[in-house]
Amino acid sequence: MDKTEKSTDQQKLANHNGDQVVSPNNKVIERAIVKDWDREIQKGEDIEKYWAMEAEQLDWFKKWDEVLDESEKPYYKWFVGGKINLAYNAIDRWIKTEKRNKIAILYTNERGDEIKLTYYELYREINKMANALLNLGIKKGDTVSMYLPMCPELVISMLACTKIGAVHSAIYSGLSSVAVVERINDIKSKVVITADGTYRRGKIINLKSVIDEAMLQCPTVQTVVLVNHTGRYNDVADLRGNEIFYERLIEGEGDSCYNEVMDAEDPLFILYTSGSTGKPKGVLHTTGGYMVGIATTLRNVFDIHDNDLWWSTGDAGWITGHSYTIYAPLLLGSTTLIYEGAPDFPDPGVWWKIVEKYGVTKFYTAPTAIRHLMRFGKKYTKLYNLDSLKILGSVGEPINYEAWKWMYEEIGKCRTPIMDTWWQTETGMHMIAPMPVADLKPGSATKPLPGVNIAIVDEEGAEVKKGKKGYLVITKPWPAMFRSLYNDEERFEEVYWNHFPDGFYKTGDMARMDEDGYIWIEGRSDDVLKIAGHRVGAVEVESAFNSHPSVNETAVIGKEDPVKGQLIKAFLILNSGYDLDLPFKDGSNTMLREELKRHVRHSLGPVAVLGEMVSVDSLPKTKSGKIMRRILKAKEAGEDLGDTSTLDDL
Ligand code: WT7
Repeated sequence: MDKTEKSTDQQKLANHNGDQVVSPNNKVIERAIVKDWDREIQKGEDIEKYWAMEAEQLDWFKKWDEVLDESEKPYYKWFVGGKINLAYNAIDRWIKTEKRNKIAILYTNERGDEIKLTYYELYREINKMANALLNLGIKKGDTVSMYLPMCPELVISMLACTKIGAVHSAIYSGLSSVAVVERINDIKSKVVITADGTYRRGKIINLKSVIDEAMLQCPTVQTVVLVNHTGRYNDVADLRGNEIFYERLIEGEGDSCYNEVMDAEDPLFILYTSGSTGKPKGVLHTTGGYMVGIATTLRNVFDIHDNDLWWSTGDAGWITGHSYTIYAPLLLGSTTLIYEGAPDFPDPGVWWKIVEKYGVTKFYTAPTAIRHLMRFGKKYTKLYNLDSLKILGSVGEPINYEAWKWMYEEIGKCRTPIMDTWWQTETGMHMIAPMPVADLKPGSATKPLPGVNIAIVDEEGAEVKKGKKGYLVITKPWPAMFRSLYNDEERFEEVYWNHFPDGFYKTGDMARMDEDGYIWIEGRSDDVLKIAGHRVGAVEVESAFNSHPSVNETAVIGKEDPVKGQLIKAFLILNSGYDLDLPFKDGSNTMLREELKRHVRHSLGPVAVLGEMVSVDSLPKTKSGKIMRRILKAKEAGEDLGDTSTLDDL
């Protein structure tokens, strides 16, 4: 971009009034695979034709007989009769091409360590692990749980599972042993793959101790595979009977392995996420449609070319990590950078140092990380050369204007468009997002992608007028859609499909559409909090509090936070004799407030960040005894309480 363009863009930003448009420069347009955004969206009008066309980019063992089967909705089926394998498409097919010696994954961390694996090297490692899993008795359809940091072995293990048709379930390495137990027992895994620890802000977080604690309550697990990632274990003697080092496990395994012929609708993975009730939801994704959806959206939204170096900071314990840090870039034959550690250690320039060192071209992260880094000022983005960056991306929560502007000016130097991508664990793929040639409006994820249909509706499912807030629904099936909640079809139907008329998927988000058809997300309609982009269910937090002897009852709401988006605010009815600011009666001098913080963190892990705790005498409830968090939220925001007719007593 030349100087004049740059200054006009900056000018525009300076004059921001909430709905200004930022257009891409000529270089972005010249490079773009999709040159005409509107036309591409039009192509998606016939969803079956569009997605069938996109499915052609993959290598199918057998093509599908039918693109979409809607006969048993909401149990939609995509690419019915198609046979395919993810690992084959992500790895094996590339080693027959000139990509064979291209770097597939580039691992680095906050210490500056580096591991590069070419497609061929990754292929061999996956095969060894696949053979090892087979030797452990893992068959098609069996589940394998993982509790691993972002490290090459995680990528290898996930792909090894998909190779032999095992269903993987990655658990975010920041979750507590309570959460691990719940997630392993729900799917009855026979094998768990974990690591000794993970690097975080100069320390090593012990993961093995979490697994040790969890294993006391996981009767189905026969083998624990331990990656000696940080090198804490020197000796086999340190291990227990059913534990084996990853290195030892794959030792001597053959470096070739067959690819299980998977039906397009065979399960691929289960990933847990929070909902409105206490129990986490096991979101089940299947094979063919998921692959088509993520490969297409990554290519179109981030304009992926062969020479790109893609970096998504999303951890593989979440959907962003599955779809866009690992699978989609490999399905496109790209190079994906995986990073382990904090964004601000050894200093807040660590990410920019990596961008400069490797020449990262596409960078995808969460607004909360940007807001965190903004606090350290502009010094660090100026220390490094960020000229290699071509496109930036945002995911996880609405991006506020200040963070957008900082990203655009400080990281992208007003040259790089920002792709704000709206989607969910359940959708599997980007749903509302621009493409690089699009005119952007900071804070809006713009329009539904081609082949994606959404509407904003009222309680009855009737579309609301432009400019009016309503429930965001998806009106037609899409290929990467989750197929169910594991072992809980009733909840699947209840939570997502029964609320609105026929075939409308309830996202749980509120939104409005502006005059130009751009979508603005306006928060959640359910009791799910978004803390640093992570979903945390209010009920989960309440149960964690309630399990403490000092607490009688709890109500939890989200409280605005400038960095994390939301934090937990807890209203507690304490049992008699307890006081938040007096020592907890356990003999120590810990104040109850601190003790509760520790207790909640122990049950939910560090994702549940507590902002405030207040002790109250009563909680607003419906006549049937349900807590009305809405009332607490409105009071907190100083708003009108709305309809209080169902309220028992104020
Ligand atoms: C919820 C889904 C999608 C991967 C990471 C989060 C919120 C997500 C955006 C965005 C506004 C967003 C929504 C959504 N959300 N992306 N670009 N703009 N809100 O996945 O944990 O399943 O959370 O995150 O509320 O429903 P998730």
